[in-house]
Amino acid sequence: MELRKIPETTISVSAITLGTWAFGGGKWWGTQLDEDSCAVLIESVNRGIISIDTAPIYGKGRSEKIIGDFIRKKRLRDKIVLATKLGLSWKGSRVRHNLRKKRMLQELDESRQRLQTDFFDIYQVHWPDPETSVSETADVMSNFYKKGLIKAVGVSNYSVDQIKEFMKHSPLHVLQPPYNMFRREIEKEIIPFCLKNNIAIIGYSPLNSGILTGKFFFQNVEVPDDLCRKDHQDVKEPFFSINKQCLKQLKNIADKYNKTLTQLVINWTRSRKGITSIIVGARKTCQIEENVDGLGWEIDGQDDQEIESLLKKREDKINCLKK
Ligand SMILES: NC(=O)c1ccc[n+]([C@@H]2O[C@H](COP(=O)([O-])OP(=O)(O)OC[C@H]3O[C@@H](n4cnc5c(N)ncnc54)[C@H](OP(=O)(O)O)[C@@H]3O)[C@@H](O)[C@H]2O)c1
Repeated sequence: MELRKIPETTISVSAITLGTWAFGGGKWWGTQLDEDSCAVLIESVNRGIISIDTAPIYGKGRSEKIIGDFIRKKRLRDKIVLATKLGLSWKGSRVRHNLRKKRMLQELDESRQRLQTDFFDIYQVHWPDPETSVSETADVMSNFYKKGLIKAVGVSNYSVDQIKEFMKHSPLHVLQPPYNMFRREIEKEIIPFCLKNNIAIIGYSPLNSGILTGKFFFQNVEVPDDLCRKDHQDVKEPFFSINKQCLKQLKNIADKYNKTLTQLVINWTRSRKGITSIIVGARKTCQIEENVDGLGWEIDGQDDQEIESLLKKREDKINCLKK
């Protein structure tokens, strides 16, 4: 698998980063067995995915713990690019933002214990905290970096203004925003800004939480009763029918290459200008097998234009409905 360097760091990530939000289960993704998560980790590494994205909040510590155990048992620490986050704390079922300095220091230690490592390759602020200034957060991240506790500084879900403010107080190497065929807001301001400022973009939810695989439209797979999907606008009418039509046409393009819709979606997303890696979530080994074959081939220029026009038509119809 192709590796891509994160500017101004010693780190290279794989074109696909493994997303592990579903590990550890919970209300967002429903039940996930640890043995399936471990099998996904093994399959990913065997197929050249060297970067793994997690966060303390995923499975309330469970995702980090599963990954930490896996890396230790397989002695893979020096082979894996480990990316985690901070800034969301929980008490029972209540989750809240907390980026106060004291809590950031605690979170670093908690994640180091669960992941069983002294340092993280990429450490990312998960979401801005409305009650803490960006400068306070950035100062703490900068200190982690100076001390060698983290090899690259990242933020997630930040606006351009927040990124600019952050950069006054800390180096910034990675941005982790949402990005997929149906969610392209970052193309306007954020991608050009990151390209200009040498910030790597590692986009999340490239399959739009599995919706872009087409399985809820063409394969008789029911939309799961989990928080990520059950109320998702894209699988509800009137949007469902518009999306189905668009995905059907995209699937016809994928057929020309002997690829699945999922593979076309992965290829397209990863090859957009300014995208360093995409974080694809997976829960079963067969998903990894399919997803990895989304790379290593090219969509030709004419089909690329056709995809652009299909996505534009879909967006226009959706915007019309929202008016
Ligand atoms: N920074 C943030 O705020 C933030 C937010 C969201 C996500 N993330 C990160 O980004 C990662 C990816 O995002 P995501 O998990 O939201 O969405 P995603 O990557 O768009 O979708 C992943 C889900 O799609 C399904 N899937 C994957 N491959 C498939 C295949 N080949 N065929 C059919 N179904 C397939 C799986 O769920 P099912 O099998 O259950 O359908 C999988 O969990 C997360 O795991 C997390 O690491 C970060």
